[in-house]
Amino acid sequence: MTQGFVWWSESGGPGKTTNSMQTAAAIGRDGYDVLVWDLDPQRGALTHYCGYEHLDHDGIPEDEDEEEAYEVDPTIMDVFFDNTDIRELIVETPHFDLVPGHEDLGNFESALDSSGRRGVDEFWVIRELLEELATEYDIFILDVQATLNTLVDNAIIAARNVMVPIELTPKGDASQRGLENTIDAMESGFEKMGVDITIKGTVPSRVGNAKIFEQYRDSMKDRGVPLSPFSIPEHSLLRYTWGNQMDLFTFIESDETRQLRSYEEHVPLAYKVIGRWMTGDYTYHEAINKWDQVKNDEMGDADPEKLLDGADSEVSA
Ligand SMILES: Nc1ncnc2c1ncn2[C@@H]1O[C@H](COP(=O)(O)OP(=O)(O)O)[C@@H](O)[C@H]1O
Ligand SMILES: [Mg+2]
Repeated sequence: MTQGFVWWSESGGPGKTTNSMQTAAAIGRDGYDVLVWDLDPQRGALTHYCGYEHLDHDGIPEDEDEEEAYEVDPTIMDVFFDNTDIRELIVETPHFDLVPGHEDLGNFESALDSSGRRGVDEFWVIRELLEELATEYDIFILDVQATLNTLVDNAIIAARNVMVPIELTPKGDASQRGLENTIDAMESGFEKMGVDITIKGTVPSRVGNAKIFEQYRDSMKDRGVPLSPFSIPEHSLLRYTWGNQMDLFTFIESDETRQLRSYEEHVPLAYKVIGRWMTGDYTYHEAINKWDQVKNDEMGDADPEKLLDGADSEVSA
């Protein structure tokens, strides 16, 4: 069955786009057909990260002599409001397919007004497309802006499963009450519309020190917020992948970039385990156990999958 996920948070910068990219790659490497949607109108986000930055805006010449003017045509907005087949847009990356974003997504609200869908089916624009593609993909991952507007509501209603990256303070707490309130409000808001939204997980991201996370995990256990089995570390590796415009796994396997260093090995492993937890290949407890088994292992020449699946055979032996 096809599953959808949207990485969402109230604040900018905790890692929605980074986590969208890396969990999509991790899941794609397990043989799933993954489609990632860049729904952030801002230039330089996921589409850029995937190396398709010429698609996220129209080129406008600075003066008349310049020949750089071009119009990206069609864009995701033509899919939403002009009956363009979404398949015309989809591009490939090493581990997943991508629906490129475009800055015109900033006009979503006004386009909705002109489309006649406002007040009729304004929240179903994206969901319809997901349903149309459900036989072609196993997993949809949607990346949105840090805001709540009709575009983001559309994405949440389409995906149903929300992944929330949160930043922990140096003492190991997040703005916990704020988070719980937001999650409650979100769930009941969509429930009124008859849509069942699941907060699949809150994922502490950009965490400087795993011990901080473990303390936080213990204090959060009984609070009803579904906490990820472990955190995504703050790691310069993820900034390098951004600069190189490739997913983490492609980056560490490419001759042009570089071999993974031993102190970096837990980063792809964390994304692998979170990816398998998202798809349901690992239950929550399996994910924690798996993480505990591999977190101190050295990968050596193996890839992250070999290390994880090797741990499987040790368990069953
Ligand atoms: N785990 C991480 N370690 C290091 N840098 C990160 C990490 N996650 C995100 N970043 C960097 O932080 C910035 C914001 O991340 P991004 O994923 O764009 O956040 P959001 O989409 O939530 O605004 C980017 O420059 C990104 O490279
Ligand atoms: Mg982003």
